[in-house]
Amino acid sequence: MAAQQKPRIEVSADLSALVEAAAEHMATRLAAVAERAAVCLTGGSTPEPVYRRLAAAPYRDTIPWERIHLFWGDDRFVPADDARNNAGMTRRALVDHVPIPPANVHPVPTGEADQHAAARAYEDALKRFYGADRLDPARPLFDFVLMGLGSDGHTASLFPGSPALSERERWVVGVDKAGLEPFVPRVTLTYPALASTREMLFLISGKGKRDIVARVLGGADLPAARARADGAIVWMMDRAAAEASDGG
Ligand code: 6PG
Repeated sequence: MAAQQKPRIEVSADLSALVEAAAEHMATRLAAVAERAAVCLTGGSTPEPVYRRLAAAPYRDTIPWERIHLFWGDDRFVPADDARNNAGMTRRALVDHVPIPPANVHPVPTGEADQHAAARAYEDALKRFYGADRLDPARPLFDFVLMGLGSDGHTASLFPGSPALSERERWVVGVDKAGLEPFVPRVTLTYPALASTREMLFLISGKGKRDIVARVLGGADLPAARARADGAIVWMMDRAAAEASDGG
């Protein structure tokens, strides 16, 4: 495996400081966009309070929502109104509270026949949005990709041992078996699609992540360690998650 792309690491004192720092970081990036910005979001419990923060003042009023397009790096193959659906969570926390045009919100189509059909449809939608079938490193698909870190080292729905890890051509694939709860099929962007971004931001919190953070940063060959970005990779963590890795 090629050497890990070294992330820039920022540690906040606690969860609420992390939420504030992450919201400010994202809002600053998004406020700077001149034309349209494509943002790829993630699910899980860590980003939810950040989404809620972005839906409140001042960010609700300062982010140029009409120029923002939202995508998801992965989703659980369950109906949009199922509590486990990542886009549904984002809708309740953020989308319903900000003036983003409905046409700018691009969830994984979980109403398709199965996770593989949904992956094909989502890949087509991404290619239409991008305007080409091949990714050009000089023109990233996304301005910003948000990622999480699972306790088994997964990121997006790229689980240890999954065939999705070695996919180099497809932008999106169906995942039959999730490695962690909820054990429902998933749809995930692949490494090449996720890498096509100006910045990839990992959001990680809590003591429960301490060991896996140390393993990934220590060079273990885990899915999150294999993530690449055409631009920078940034890890924002709270002290509880970071302790073993920053000597604190
Ligand atoms: C999902 C996610 C997943 C998540 C990690 C971390 O759909 O489950 O996209 O990759 O980011 O599991 O989740 P937590 O923030 O809940 O620990």
